[in-house]
Amino acid sequence: MNIGNFVPENNVFLAPMAGVTDKAFRIICKEFGAGLVYTEMVSSKGLYYGSQRTEFMLDIDEREAPAVVQIFGSDADIMGYMAEKISEKEDVAFIDINMGCPAPKIVKNKEGSYLMREPELAKRIVKKVVEKSKSLLLVK
Ligand SMILES: Cc1cc2nc3c(=O)[nH]c(=O)nc-3n(C[C@H](O)[C@H](O)[C@H](O)COP(=O)(O)O)c2cc1C
Repeated sequence: MNIGNFVPENNVFLAPMAGVTDKAFRIICKEFGAGLVYTEMVSSKGLYYGSQRTEFMLDIDEREAPAVVQIFGSDADIMGYMAEKISEKEDVAFIDINMGCPAPKIVKNKEGSYLMREPELAKRIVKKVVEKSKSLLLVK
């Protein structure tokens, strides 16, 4: 299986799960044979405003690398800015944009599944994230 120019080890992936797929869990799943593992959803606003806790969620161990970082947010410029920073990390396979989280505290901020109510906003976010993730388009 190819995802863009990225070729995972096999086609069994660990799905992103907030509060579950932390580094320790991801390493265990990778060691049990997962082809690719995803981080929990990471707040683009948290990263932008320098939250250490959010920064910590981006830490990828060499035993699980390369891993996928899932980001969420509603501001296309902030999502793009963070995508640029994340894509510069050598241990990131690619970036995934969360558009499915239904939790009220996420949806009320126009994040996660809220984006399905505003396709134009979702489109702006995808465009910006792709535009700013150019380094991920190079073969790693
Ligand atoms: C506790 C929990 C947290 C989740 N967090 C996320 C998340 O952060 N991002 C996401 O895209 N999906 C999240 N999901 C959805 C899962 O990634 C997955 O898509 C969902 O469980 C359906 O997969 P399944 O059919 O294999 O159960 C979460 C699911 C659970 C149960």
